[in-house]
Amino acid sequence: MHYLIYVSSASYLLEDAELKDILGKSRTNNAMVDVTGMLLYKNGSFMQVLEGEADTVTKTFARISEDKRHSGIIVLCEEKAESRIFQGWSMGFQTLTPGDVKDIPEFAEFKNGRFTDPSIVENPHVAVKLLKTFYQ
Ligand SMILES: Cc1cc2nc3c(=O)[nH]c(=O)nc-3n(C[C@H](O)[C@H](O)[C@H](O)COP(=O)(O)O)c2cc1C
Repeated sequence: MHYLIYVSSASYLLEDAELKDILGKSRTNNAMVDVTGMLLYKNGSFMQVLEGEADTVTKTFARISEDKRHSGIIVLCEEKAESRIFQGWSMGFQTLTPGDVKDIPEFAEFKNGRFTDPSIVENPHVAVKLLKTFYQ
């Protein structure tokens, strides 16, 4: 098992319909190749975790990296893992507001921020914690 977490910036203000389209495609494609994960959207920025077999995750990420709807991709971590965190989720999704993060101590200062902020990029374990928070 292998996982990859990245952050990126939306290239323009994405409409709900467009986010739904991304999510629909993601769920169909990921289910076919047994990739699971979570996509967060906040203040024009994305954070995504992809989990699965190493070459499948690499291929999926390569395709996502080419997508013109986002840019400035920064990989926070790419590692082997014992097991999946997002078992059964072909791609979870949450749009976050400042209220969603205010009760998570690590995110107190990040309330109005973006996932590409140095406070996140320099502390990948914080990203893992945030992503896990939304797996219920
Ligand atoms: C932020 C973001 C996250 C995405 N996540 C995934 C994903 O998890 N899986 C996926 O197959 N496509 C994902 N996509 C879409 C791909 O970039 C690409 O458009 C899609 O895989 C093409 O699918 P198709 O060849 O079936 O049309 C994502 C796109 C963006 C902008």
